[in-house]
Amino acid sequence: MADMRKTRAISSVGILLAVLFGIQSPPARSDKEPEITLKSSKKNLTLRRGELLKRSDVTTIEISDDPLAPGKKIQYTAVPVYALLEGLSIPENSTIHYVCSDGFAASIPNSQLKNKSPAKAIAYLAIEKSTDRWPVVEPGKTETPGPFYIVWKNAKASGITRESWPYHVVGFEIRQSMQDLYPNIFPEAKLAETHPVKRGFEVFKRNCFACHTLNLQGDGRMGPDLNVPYSPTEYFQPFALKTLIRNPQSLRHFTEGKMHPFPKEIIPDSELSDLVLYLKHMSKRKVKSP
Ligand code: HEC
Repeated sequence: MADMRKTRAISSVGILLAVLFGIQSPPARSDKEPEITLKSSKKNLTLRRGELLKRSDVTTIEISDDPLAPGKKIQYTAVPVYALLEGLSIPENSTIHYVCSDGFAASIPNSQLKNKSPAKAIAYLAIEKSTDRWPVVEPGKTETPGPFYIVWKNAKASGITRESWPYHVVGFEIRQSMQDLYPNIFPEAKLAETHPVKRGFEVFKRNCFACHTLNLQGDGRMGPDLNVPYSPTEYFQPFALKTLIRNPQSLRHFTEGKMHPFPKEIIPDSELSDLVLYLKHMSKRKVKSP
């Protein structure tokens, strides 16, 4: 599978946030001690690497399904994210937005990041020590995912996608609910939670929204909007759209293509059908084109 770095969106919002977070570039290689900022409406916390490494909950975890190191087992020094978030008051329906030093920015559901139950995926902030560097993100490069990388124990149990393994993380921001932030990506409210369109919406948020806006809302700046002026369900035959999502290069070869394939292990067939139904449904809920 393509390296995750290829999939990164340098979004203008990300850059704006990067400026707001006071990120220096290049991030990790300056003499300044790396730090990470946690922001909520009430409080800002800045945590330096040295302080994090002294915490009593620092642990060593072994990750065997790291998307940056397929097939390898990697040990990380890490702190559970739920413990870091404990000091902030996080409203139940808020979203947690992360920002990376290269501008990659997206949200991870609050409930996933705060989870402590070993029956589900648990997020850790992996911390790279200056004396113990990690494997590089891509063969032939010198860059590692450090100094801070979000990794997951038991990722499969909660269907954690690659977009939820951000590296070079510099900050987290607690934001309003998705509904307040992006009302126009929501399907018809009266549909039951189990309706295929609602399920497809979940598939969209997990897998597509980091790179694509829909109805012009969202932070993804890498791919085109998926509803305006036209929904892909209006100009692709259903088989073509599904083929594209399964593997964009198998529909149209494009060496510079940045969208990675979504095989069955990531989006099972039933979820792919739900996703297409959601996109179709949204084609009837368009906002005006810019
Ligand atoms: C890593 C970023 C990324 C993710 C994640 C992503 N895409 Fe894309 N997508 C792109 C980019 C960039 C393009 C433009 C072609 C290319 O570079 O591959 C694109 C193109 C497309 C197109 C073709 C649009 C056209 O008119 O040519 C469709 C449809 C699409 N994506 C749907 C999806 C869906 C559905 C998902 C979620 C399952 C998704 N994409 C996930 C980045 C992404």
